[in-house]
Amino acid sequence: MMDIESHTMVFLRDLLATRAVEDPELTAFLACWVYEELWHGEALGRFLRTAGVAVEPGERARAVRQSLGARGRARHIGMLLGGAAFRDFPAVHVTWGAVNELSTLTAYERIIAATANPVLADLLQRIVRDERRHYSFYRAEAQRRLEAAAAARRLTRVALDRTWAIVGTGVRPLDETDFVVLHLFGDEEGAAAAAGMDTKVHSLPGLDGLWLFQRARQRALSRTRRPSRGSGGMVFQR
Ligand SMILES: [Fe+2]
Ligand SMILES: [Fe+2]
Repeated sequence: MMDIESHTMVFLRDLLATRAVEDPELTAFLACWVYEELWHGEALGRFLRTAGVAVEPGERARAVRQSLGARGRARHIGMLLGGAAFRDFPAVHVTWGAVNELSTLTAYERIIAATANPVLADLLQRIVRDERRHYSFYRAEAQRRLEAAAAARRLTRVALDRTWAIVGTGVRPLDETDFVVLHLFGDEEGAAAAAGMDTKVHSLPGLDGLWLFQRARQRALSRTRRPSRGSGGMVFQR
């Protein structure tokens, strides 16, 4: 999660290559958003170092960004082309943002509920306050833009249905993303949390019945049940 928080600058670079850059209200938000996500990553790194985990923040973020290589550049070009081809691309982005902020804040809440570490709980409670603000902004923007145009609803639905995956997918190895999903959402309470997130997404215009989170949880479950390389073969239970 530290890696993904620290990766926000790259998400911002991709985003500003689209028509999103033409909207001053959105870019004002993005300027604050990238600042807060940067410090979430820094705070989690400091927590880990204090707990004895050897992470060097600058080097780690550099290694994560460099590891993307051609895939990262292809994603950037894809965003550039998508942004140029579709007038309603910003609607996809803000809805995508709402979905990811919702999962981030719910994931942190799941850790807060499970941890016996008071420092971690306090840190994550502070981070969750920011994530709630991010979610509210993206959600309100998504609601407004999806309500306004049928084409925006169609494009957003297709984009989420066919290409969305849990935030961090593709940035870190898939078995790490699966680990996070199943560690936090693998048990019964986690399944209920995933269903709750889906209900919130379904209440946005045109997005009923997508089941993004329950499908992602199911995919992670089926991958980890299959014997595979490394930690990908483990089943996580709490
Ligand atoms: Fe964050
Ligand atoms: Fe956030």
